[in-house]
This record gives sequence, C-alpha cells and structure tokens, in this order.
Amino acid sequence: MASDRGPASAGADRSALKGVREPMQDRQPDVIGRLRAAGCVFAEEEAALLAAEAATTAGLEELVRQRLSGLPLEQVLGWAEFCGLRILIDRRVFVPRRRTEYLVRRAARLLRSRAHERPVVVDLCCGTGAVGAALAALAGPLELHAADVDPAAAACARRNLAPLGGAVHEGDLYAPLPGRLRGRVDLVVVNAPYVPTGQIGMMPPEARLHEPLVSLDGGPDGLALQRRVAAGVRDWLAPGGALLLETSRRQAPQTAAILAAQGLGTRVFTSRKRDAAAVLGDSAAGPDGAGAGAAGAGG
Ligand SMILES: C[S@@+](CC[C@H](N)C(=O)[O-])C[C@H]1O[C@@H](n2cnc3c(N)ncnc32)[C@H](O)[C@@H]1O
Repeated sequence: MASDRGPASAGADRSALKGVREPMQDRQPDVIGRLRAAGCVFAEEEAALLAAEAATTAGLEELVRQRLSGLPLEQVLGWAEFCGLRILIDRRVFVPRRRTEYLVRRAARLLRSRAHERPVVVDLCCGTGAVGAALAALAGPLELHAADVDPAAAACARRNLAPLGGAVHEGDLYAPLPGRLRGRVDLVVVNAPYVPTGQIGMMPPEARLHEPLVSLDGGPDGLALQRRVAAGVRDWLAPGGALLLETSRRQAPQTAAILAAQGLGTRVFTSRKRDAAAVLGDSAAGPDGAGAGAAGAGG
C-alpha cells in the first residue's frame, strides 16, 4: 500500500462503520484474519469498510477476494476519502493520496487571499478530479476545468466533477482546454507524475500493478512533466495568475528552479508532518520579485 494511505485512505473514517448492519464477526468471522495474514496493516478497519460496502455475505466475499488479489482498497470500495469528501475511484485510475490534501489547502488559501469573485481554476493531470472537487468545496464558487490524458481518468473525473459543474477535458496537458481560457486562468493546480522512472520498481505493488504507469512516471529525474507544465502555463494564466505544483520535499528546490526559469516568482511550501510539498509559481511576482524563492512551512 502506498506510503501515505491510511486504512482505506479513509483514514479513521468511522462513519463508514455506520453501514455495517450486523457485527463483522457474525457475517464473516475470518475476514480480519485473512486480511491480516495477507499483510494488511489496518485489517480491522479494512474489514469494516468492506463489510459496509457489501450488501450480502457473498458480495463481501467477492470484495475480500479482490482485496486479497492485491487491488488497492480504494479501487475495491470504489471510493476514497479526500479532504473530507468521498471521491469516486475507478479501476486503473490513480488513487488520490492524503499528502495531496496539502496542495489543495495551499491552493484554497491562495484563492481566498486573492478574493476573486469566481476564479477560473484548472486542475491539470486531474486523475479522479479529487483536487478540483476538494478545491470547489473549500474555496468555491469556481469556474472549474480539469484535464487528463488518460481516458479512464477523464471518465472518472467526470463522475466526480459533473455534479459540481466542472468541465473535464481529455488530452495532453493544455491541448484539450477550450481556447477561450487562454489568458483567463487564475490558478493552474497540478499534481503531475513526479516519480523518477528508475524508482517505479520500488513502489508498493498496489501502485506499480494497479495504477497506470502514465500516472506515476515523471521521466528520468521525475521532473519531465513539471517542465512541460511550467513551459506552457504562461499562455493560459490571467494577469496575476499562478501555478501551484505538488512535488516531493526532496525535489522542491528543482521544481522551484523550473518555475523560476519561466519568469515566475516562486515560493516553496513544505510539511514534514504530511511529507508533502507544493511550489507556487506566481506571475504577479517575477523571479526577482517579492517572495521569490521564499520557503513556507506548515501542516
Ligand atoms: C499522480 S496522478 C495525480 C492525479 C490527481 N491529480 C490526484 O492528485 O489524485 C497524475 C495524473 O496525471 C495524468 N497525466 C500524465 N501525463 C499526462 C499528460 N501528458 N497530460 C495530462 N495528464 C497526464 C495521469 O493520467 C494521472 O491521472
């Protein structure tokens, strides 16, 4: 299981237990033991979440079978908790990580500080659309657009964002965005793949085997997508608009340098507690302007 997932990525989401109609032990006495034997660290929580999802004992057995086959718990359940929301998850789509909540909270803070009436926000490399959905909840109302190159991800994002009025576009980075957004986007928020190609083999099997390579592989140094995102962003930003990119704490200085090379004022935010980092590229401040290169921290 990926390092920053809790039990079910639902953390200690005890609300899921409400759906258990009878005690777990009565329905499937051996589920906890089987999950534990298979190496599930949070076997009791996982068993309760699976039981809450299943309508029948046979249904529960099928979910347990899928989980024991190695599918990420969130793909078995069909949802993950993210920023307090229930995000729908499809098979073969990247499961949003808890560390990405840090990116969302930074983005929400930025939007609130700029007091736009209805900012135009693009969630690029959107996966399930979790970032955009959470941002709409925390900092709405927004004109929200999301884009992903993977058709399965775009379809999943539509399920999450259509009810919020978000538009989902399918294609490579900025290419599928409507032309009318050029020069009008207040915030481009991005969690693009940033794992170096050579490190993918060391990722947990749930990620390696059940999330698509295109959602993980950031190229030789992990920064290939970030370079392309940064190189294209100025065409889309409104005057004073900004780009906020998730990165790793280790890569953050390089990410900041990539944004500075595009003439953006940069600011690095990190959280040791969440093992999270985000880098702001601000068109309102040039690389030598106020705030350039400043580092922020906080949970
Ligand atoms: C690390 S996942 C993050 C998904 C989502 N932002 C989140 O935080 O849960 C990266 C996503 O980028 C998408 N992606 C990779 N290359 C892309 C490209 N060239 N254009 C658009 N999306 C891309 C993948 O399909 C995947 O959904």
